[in-house]
Amino acid sequence: MEIPLQPEVIRETSQGGRLGKKVHYFSELDSTNLFAVRRAQEGGEEGEIVVAERQTHGKGRMGRSWFSPPGLNLYLSAILRPRLHPLRAPQITLMAAVALAETAQSFLAEPVSIKWPNDILVNGKKLAGILAESSCDPERIHYVILGIGVNLNLPLELLPDALRDSATSLLTLTGKPINRTAFACRLIRSLDQCYGELERQGFGRLAERWESFFALRGKRVRVDMAGETVSGRAAGIDKDGALILQLDDGSRRRILAGDVIPLDA
Ligand code: BTN
Repeated sequence: MEIPLQPEVIRETSQGGRLGKKVHYFSELDSTNLFAVRRAQEGGEEGEIVVAERQTHGKGRMGRSWFSPPGLNLYLSAILRPRLHPLRAPQITLMAAVALAETAQSFLAEPVSIKWPNDILVNGKKLAGILAESSCDPERIHYVILGIGVNLNLPLELLPDALRDSATSLLTLTGKPINRTAFACRLIRSLDQCYGELERQGFGRLAERWESFFALRGKRVRVDMAGETVSGRAAGIDKDGALILQLDDGSRRRILAGDVIPLDA
């Protein structure tokens, strides 16, 4: 029997910070992001956290689903109400990728990398993902729901065939089951610190930390976007979190959304 998440421990260790003072815990939900959106629309406060042991409709990026079996992984969403201009909303996702990569790295010997925009990879396989959903008007961000899924104690045999070659878990990488509550506490603390830094000091230093995990810098990549594919060299990210692609004719192109596929061996 897997040890359940301990919401009261998450709450206690998060006192003094902005995130995690209120924790909504469920043995099953459609999606922690969907619940958090509903809460935010009803006036849920900044920093409320939603965790579930299992999701029946876990959501991934670009309309995909997120594999969410019970009792093994972390499915967490946070309600944020950032005092940032809506044009800076993409920086929230990149800030979260830094917090998540650094937290995962603290449990692992192998290097963690970020695949733009926010897949967390180890040995080229996906360990964790981020889905941020925001509600803004032209002047103001009403809320950002930051949804994070991490494969923790997932044995790879449980993965559907289609994911078996492309996903990994902390259990697979370390050979040891991990305390999921301890991972959640460390992640929330790291998110809290990075979020505060983004608001107080801006994105500059966080962008450097993001780039330190960016394994594809300088490598040839293909980017599949809706209805278009482009190739070039990944040069880095700009302050809006766009991927800068150096095309073969020497020009540079900003990519706002798409799937990046490495072309170099
Ligand atoms: C991705 O496609 O890489 C993003 C995956 C995000 C999954 C998490 S699990 C917790 C939260 N609730 C969801 O339904 N999705 C996110």
